[in-house]
Amino acid sequence: MKAGVILVAAGSGDRFGRPKAFVELDGQTLLARSAARFDGFFAKIAVLRLPDLDQTRLPGWTLVAGGARRRDSVAAGLAALPPEVDLVLIHDAARPLVSDEVIARVREAAEQRGAAIPVLAVTDTLKRTDGDVVAGTVDRAGLVAVQTPQGFSRELLERALAASERDATDEAGLVEDLGETVCTVPGDPANVKVTVPADLAVARAYLHAIR
Ligand code: CTP
Ligand code: MG
Repeated sequence: MKAGVILVAAGSGDRFGRPKAFVELDGQTLLARSAARFDGFFAKIAVLRLPDLDQTRLPGWTLVAGGARRRDSVAAGLAALPPEVDLVLIHDAARPLVSDEVIARVREAAEQRGAAIPVLAVTDTLKRTDGDVVAGTVDRAGLVAVQTPQGFSRELLERALAASERDATDEAGLVEDLGETVCTVPGDPANVKVTVPADLAVARAYLHAIR
């Protein structure tokens, strides 16, 4: 299959304190680091905030403006993919340390099964709360934390976006809404997402531990 990647980097970074694409990790932006992980892909689309478009250089990538919701940014990326692309990986620019192995696992499983996501078993004890009191403990068995890239046949992803106007924190959620199967592959603890400033220190530690 001909694979394209959509790198979503159009978020506002509310929890971080500012947009994250140009935040640096050891002298290189999260955007540049994430983009470099997908060098070999046939088509590469980066989705950026409109004000960032002019000042961004990412050789080999097509740059497009994102939207207010994640799904709008994904849709903008999808519209920019060449017609021959039939397999799509969507990756958070905020995950700069994704490994070749995770990318390959997702790509292969998505080719075979139509939809695939990288996951990690949850290790913390999970509880539901009501205000500041505990309302119950959630059984951890079978629960996973989900990473990116998420991979889909283009046809399935387009159908999932067209089927509803709901926003979702990941594209797999929209595919699940269709009743289609999403398969899981092993993620990687080092594939951290930079959400709050403290995550940068975690990412830096993994960066030095693995490369
Ligand atoms: N993203 C996007 N378009 C949006 C929202 C999010 O392209 N409308 C991207 C972000 O740039 C990020 C990825 O989706 O690379 C994961 O989202 P998240 O970590 O939530 O980033 P932000 O939405 O920017 O952060 P926050 O939710 O704290 O505002
Ligand atoms: Mg967000």
